[in-house]
Amino acid sequence: MSPFHLTRTLPEDATGAALRADVLDGLTRTPKTLPPKWFYDAHGSELFDRITELPEYYPTRAEREILLGRAAEIAAASGARTLVELGSGSSDKTRHLLDAMPELHAYVPVDVSESALRQAGEALVAERPGLEVHALIADFTAGIRLPETPGPRLVAFLGGTIGNLVPEERAAFLTSVRALLAPGDALLLGTDLVKDEAVLVAAYDDAAGVTAAFNKNVLSVMNRELGADFDPGAFEHVALWDAEREWIEMRLRSRTAQTVKVPALDLAVDFAAGEELRTEVSAKFRREGVTAELAAAGLDLTHWWTDAEGRFALSLSVAG
Ligand SMILES: C[S@@+](CC[C@H](N)C(=O)[O-])C[C@H]1O[C@@H](n2cnc3c(N)ncnc32)[C@H](O)[C@@H]1O
Repeated sequence: MSPFHLTRTLPEDATGAALRADVLDGLTRTPKTLPPKWFYDAHGSELFDRITELPEYYPTRAEREILLGRAAEIAAASGARTLVELGSGSSDKTRHLLDAMPELHAYVPVDVSESALRQAGEALVAERPGLEVHALIADFTAGIRLPETPGPRLVAFLGGTIGNLVPEERAAFLTSVRALLAPGDALLLGTDLVKDEAVLVAAYDDAAGVTAAFNKNVLSVMNRELGADFDPGAFEHVALWDAEREWIEMRLRSRTAQTVKVPALDLAVDFAAGEELRTEVSAKFRREGVTAELAAAGLDLTHWWTDAEGRFALSLSVAG
């Protein structure tokens, strides 16, 4: 079996200091907000994998369709010997890319979820003898250092996860990705596209309630890690489309007036009845916007592929 390396670039208590800082900042501001990365403990990562299989959640199927049809073209255009994947999760769709890259030397999955990295990485080294897997437990918004592996590199950011960053965060993120690219390297970016509101909202508010459980999982993370006393039943899952900003927002709405204690922060947080805590934005894109955001970060879009229904896009870009 080829080697599986797991490197932690986050401190051992990743859900410690950074979580405390984000919760203190996010729950004391108006409106209240939390960054989406805190959904993804082991249970949250499992719930996300279940979301990808829901009938309403089209992005995974649409992106898989593009990858299945275009993996050989992507592999040929990039000529990559190292595939870096940001927010890799289960690395499930990535297998279509790996299948088209027999010459690939190394796969570098990067995620905040140690459980997802372990599960995916251990399976991949068993399935693909000869492929080195260097998994990085890291926050892709905090700047990452890549291991020394042969180039060219293809950096993949799939799943539409870039939409979880607001425009200023996206600009900073894309600039940091640009800085990772040497001449000959490329970025493969998955972006969910603007479409009918009903289709978008259903994708974030499924009939089986899996997305609601995923959304509320952040409350369980705060309960476990910070000793908080959130009652998940006292909050309602909300998904709505902001037509002006062209993003979906997930929120947790307090069903009653309540005070939640967060002992690790020595904090008591008041929620009014109906008050909402924003837990995620998921921006939807148009081709012109993606091209412009990439260009602003010094990246030239060279390829643009969509699924047959035009729901989701994959783009390839290179350092300009
Ligand atoms: C929407 S899921 C997408 C997973 C997978 N790429 C896919 O396409 O199905 C987002 C993934 O990014 C990870 N993630 C979220 N925020 C992160 C951050 N700031 N740094 C590193 N990983 C992050 C999550 O743990 C999760 O695996």
